[in-house]
Amino acid sequence: MSNILYIILFLIPTSPLTSMELRSPNGRILLDFTLNDGRPGYALTFDGRQVLTRSSLGIRALDSVLLEDRFVIAKLDSSKADETWKPVWGESSEIRNQYSELSVRLRQQGTGFLMVLRFRLFNDGLGFRYEFPQQEELGYFTVTDELTEFNLTGDHTAFWIPGDYDTNEYKYSTGPLSTVDASIGRKAGEIYAKTPIGPNVVQSPLMMKSADGLYINIHEAALLNYPAMNLEIDQESFSLRSHLVPNPVGSKAFLQTPCVTPWRTLIVSDRAEEILTSRIILNLNEPSKIVETGWITPMKYVGIWWELHIGKSTWNYADVANVSLSGTDWDSLRPNGRHGATTERTKRYIDFAAEHGFGGVLVEGWNIGWEDWFGKWKEEVFDFVTPYPDFAVDELQGYAAAQGVKLIMHHETSSSVTNYERRMDEAFGFMKDHGYDAVKTGYVGRIIPRGEFHDGQWMINHYVRVAEKAASYGIMVNAHEPVRPTGLHRTYPNWLACEAARGNEFNAWSSGNPPEHETILPFTRLMGGPMDYTPGIFQITMDYWNPDKTEQVHTTLAKQLALYVTLYSPLQMAADLPESYERFPDAFQFIKDVPVDWDETRILHAEPGDYVVIARKGKGSGSWFLGAITDEERREFRIGLDFLESGREYNVTVYADAVDAHWKRNPMAYTIRTEVLTSKDALNLILAAGGGAAVSIVPTE
Ligand code: NOJ
Ligand code: CA
Repeated sequence: MSNILYIILFLIPTSPLTSMELRSPNGRILLDFTLNDGRPGYALTFDGRQVLTRSSLGIRALDSVLLEDRFVIAKLDSSKADETWKPVWGESSEIRNQYSELSVRLRQQGTGFLMVLRFRLFNDGLGFRYEFPQQEELGYFTVTDELTEFNLTGDHTAFWIPGDYDTNEYKYSTGPLSTVDASIGRKAGEIYAKTPIGPNVVQSPLMMKSADGLYINIHEAALLNYPAMNLEIDQESFSLRSHLVPNPVGSKAFLQTPCVTPWRTLIVSDRAEEILTSRIILNLNEPSKIVETGWITPMKYVGIWWELHIGKSTWNYADVANVSLSGTDWDSLRPNGRHGATTERTKRYIDFAAEHGFGGVLVEGWNIGWEDWFGKWKEEVFDFVTPYPDFAVDELQGYAAAQGVKLIMHHETSSSVTNYERRMDEAFGFMKDHGYDAVKTGYVGRIIPRGEFHDGQWMINHYVRVAEKAASYGIMVNAHEPVRPTGLHRTYPNWLACEAARGNEFNAWSSGNPPEHETILPFTRLMGGPMDYTPGIFQITMDYWNPDKTEQVHTTLAKQLALYVTLYSPLQMAADLPESYERFPDAFQFIKDVPVDWDETRILHAEPGDYVVIARKGKGSGSWFLGAITDEERREFRIGLDFLESGREYNVTVYADAVDAHWKRNPMAYTIRTEVLTSKDALNLILAAGGGAAVSIVPTE
C-alpha cells in the first residue's frame, strides 16, 4: 500500500482547480500539486502533519514573460526509481536513491510557453525544479525573479545566518522566524566582501524546528548556471520566498532553452538524526562526469597556514606597499625576515608529514604578490607561477617526492576572477610540471568583474569551470570563499571540499566561533557538501604565541579531535603547527589514525545547536571512529556499541576531556583511556562545557 503512487486528477482544462497527489516510497510524505486558476502551487505533509501549506511556484522573466499563471496541464508523467550507486568517496560506500516522481508539463495560455515542474519525493523529503524544454516561443530569456514559496505552518525555531550575495562566513543565530533580524553593521576595513541583503533575508541551508518537533531543512541541489537562492521571510505569515542573487545589470539569470533550474530541496523528519543521514541533495545531482577517478584521493594534510593566521609568520616576503607583477623587481626587495613559505620551513612540514603519514603539505604565500593583495580591486594581483626568491620550487618538488608527500598548491585569486581565468591553464600546467595535483583556491574580497557577486550566476559558472578544467589536468580542488555547496561533488568528485562558512580560522583573529557553531554546521553548511573547516588546533589560547593576544579557539582539545568525525570531509587538515603536535603526541595519534573516507556512517545522537555524536567505519577497514561534540553545556552520553560486529573484540581508545576541562577555563586538559570492548558493551562519554570526545575502535586482531 505504502509504495503506491497516488495521482488524483481532475483533468478538465477549464476547471479552476486541478490537484494531484504524490506519495513518498514509504508513504509518509505526501505532496499535493495544484493548479489553481492556472497558477501552480504545492503543499506537503509528513505523517499527516502539515509541513507546507499551499505555496506558489513560478518564474518571472523579462519581456513580459510571467511564468506564474494562465497555465494548463499539457502532460503528466509519474515514475518511480530505486537504485544504489557508489560515490568515489564519502560518508558511506553506497547510496540508495529511491523516490517517486511526478512531472507536470504546463502550457501557458496565450503565449504557448512550456514549463515542466518535476517533483521527486524521497522517504526523507522533496526535491523539485523548473524545466524549460526547447521551444520556439521561449528561446533565450532573462530571469528577473523566482516565485518559489515555502509556506511554513508556524513560527519555527530557525538556525540562520544573514542572507548575503558574497559570503557565508557568519556566526549562526537561533530563534523563532518572527525574531530574525539579519541587519548587519559593516566594520571599516573589513577584508571579506559582504553584501547583506536585508533584515528578513537568511541563507540556505536553513535548518528549522517546529514547536511540535518536526525538523525541516531547506536548501538546493545541483546549482549550475543559475544564482544561489537566499530565503526572504514573511515574519507574520511564516512564508519563505526565494531571493536570488542578482547580476550587475540587476536581473538574476540569463537562460537559453532547453534548460533547468537547480532543485529546491526540503528534508523533513521528526528525528534530527535523520536530517543528517539524508542523501537527497547528492541523489539530485548528476553522476560523475569524470570517468577514470583513480587519481582522486581523499587525504589529510598539514601546511604553512595556521602560523600565518596567528601572526607567527607572514604570507608576504617584504614589508612594502604598492607592488605590481610587472613593475616590481622582486629579487631586489628586502625580505622582512618573517616570511612563512621559505624552502627551509616547507621542508620542515614535508618531514613532519612524511613522519606521521600525511598525504599533503599546503604552502600559502609562496608566490609573488602578497605585499598588496586585497582591498583595492586590483586586476593583476597574482600570476600563480612565480615563486618568491626564498621558495625553491624545483628543489622542493624533489624533496617532497623523495618522501612520498605531495605539495598542495595555493591560488588565492583575491577575487580578481578574470585574472585567474586568463591564467588558469598556465597555472595548472605549472602545477603539473612541479608535481602538484591538488589546489586550494581562494576568493577573498570583491569580485572582478566589478559588480558581480560571489554567489551570482557568473561566479557559479566560474566555480564549475575551475572544477572542470582542474579535472582535465588531473587536479583536485578545495575552494575557499566560493558559493556554499549543493552536492556538485557527486558530478565533480575532484572538487573535494569547500570552505563557504565560518571556519576555524576565525578563532585565530576574531571574536571566533562560539562552542555551538560546530553543532549547527552539520545541519546547515554541510548539508550541501564537505567543508574544509581546518580542525585540530591543540594550542588553544593564542597568548602562547603572542602575549598580547587574547583570542582563543572556543573549544577543548578533545573536541578538536572529535571534529574529524563530526564534520565530514575527504580532505582534512591537521591545522596546528608541527611544534604543537610534538608537544601532545598521544592526542595527535587520533588525528594520525582517523580516516577521511568511510564505508558506513551512524548518526547516534544529534540536536542542532546542542550536540552531535557520530560513528563511522573506515573504508575497507573493520575499525570504527566516533566523535561527540557539545555546545557550551556539559553533557554525558551512554553509547551502546551494537553497531560493532558481534563476537569480535575491539581495542577502544577514548580521547576525552579531563574532569576539570572547560572550553574557557581549562581548554587543553584531556585524558586518554583504553579498554577492550565488544558489541555488547556500552561506552560512557562525559563532554566538558564546549568539549568533546573522540574514540577509535580497532579490532584486536
Ligand atoms: C581566507 C582563507 O579562508 C584562508 O584559508 C587563507 O589562508 C586566506 N584567505 C588567504 O588566502
Ligand atoms: Ca575564508
